[in-house]
Amino acid sequence: MTAKAYNAGVLGTGFYLPEKILTNADLEKIVDTSDEWITERTGIKERRIADDGVPMSHLAIKAAEMALEDAGVKPEELDLIIVATLTSDRIIPSTACILQDRLGATHAAAFDLSAACSGFVYAATVAAQFITNGAYKKALVIGAETLSKYINWEDRNTCVLFGDGAGAAVLGRVDDGYGILSFDLGSDGSGGDAIQIPSSGSLAPVSKETIDKRLNLIYMNGKEVFKFAVKAMGKTVVNSLEKIDMPQEQIDWLVPHQANIRIIQSAAKRLSMPMDKVIVNIHKYGNMSAACVPIALAEAAHEKRFKKGDVIALSGFGAGLTWASCILRWSKED
Ligand code: ACO
Repeated sequence: MTAKAYNAGVLGTGFYLPEKILTNADLEKIVDTSDEWITERTGIKERRIADDGVPMSHLAIKAAEMALEDAGVKPEELDLIIVATLTSDRIIPSTACILQDRLGATHAAAFDLSAACSGFVYAATVAAQFITNGAYKKALVIGAETLSKYINWEDRNTCVLFGDGAGAAVLGRVDDGYGILSFDLGSDGSGGDAIQIPSSGSLAPVSKETIDKRLNLIYMNGKEVFKFAVKAMGKTVVNSLEKIDMPQEQIDWLVPHQANIRIIQSAAKRLSMPMDKVIVNIHKYGNMSAACVPIALAEAAHEKRFKKGDVIALSGFGAGLTWASCILRWSKED
């Protein structure tokens, strides 16, 4: 197919969070921790937890429906659905196929994408390529997680960090000069052991023995990830800016992955951005992996914080290790 140059941008956004709130005070009753430690070291005050029996797809569908309505797009107009997640309902079928069916997206290709916390930016970038080259007109991109189902509630190093939620965006053609202007995707698999679920696939299938050893739950070397993250999250935005020769002062908003307020602050400092230009919701929701960036984007959009023409940098990092950013010129009217 001959490549045509269309601009891919955000037509609408949506988000959904489970109602159940788990506060730092609740966690003090479960593990040896304190509200003071969690707040100071991470910025998190509370997080949302999906009820038992509620799968990730349930959250994803609600976010998707909101995004479709916001975009004024019908499910049957979608050419593509990508769900970025590390907590899909099952290994097969993909959650994207579950959504294709439930939404009635009768003409959409559908697949899941695995890039952990960088997943939404990876997925949006992949979808944008199809729109840019003219192959597809409309794509639904979702970041959704139910990390609570993989938390070791006896491990204070990790159980205070994570939460559940879903964010979505409908991408489509936008006018010249708007939409995704550049992107930067990267990986360093040599750091793969730093965040993992040791028994979750063909290497060590889940068994009674692995469950007894809690190997089916999230393990993280927080210090290693922290060191990587403080460099990666600002640097990837700089890489994206360099590709279009855009000075960093032109960024109006930074929408970062929400893993730790100290990591977010260091990225803002690297980009010389005041914190009131950084979308932060970590205090309310914690780290929801692939769902963080789209929820922050959608929440800010629905609060009417962006105006047409604003330059928005999306930035994430996570397991893999992976990182991803894109520069987006907002095309929606208020
Ligand atoms: N409550 C109280 N004390 C705690 C807790 C807790 N919840 N957790 C750890 N501690 C203790 C440790 O045991 C340690 O005690 P010690 O000194 O007696 O050994 C002390 O606090 C300091 O521990 P550190 O690990 O050095 O704490 P740090 O300041 O590095 O914060 C944290 C830990 C929050 C995990 C931080 O390292 C971090 O945010 N890392 C990055 C995590 C991340 O970004 N993950 C993203 C990817 S997730 C994904 O892709 C799914």
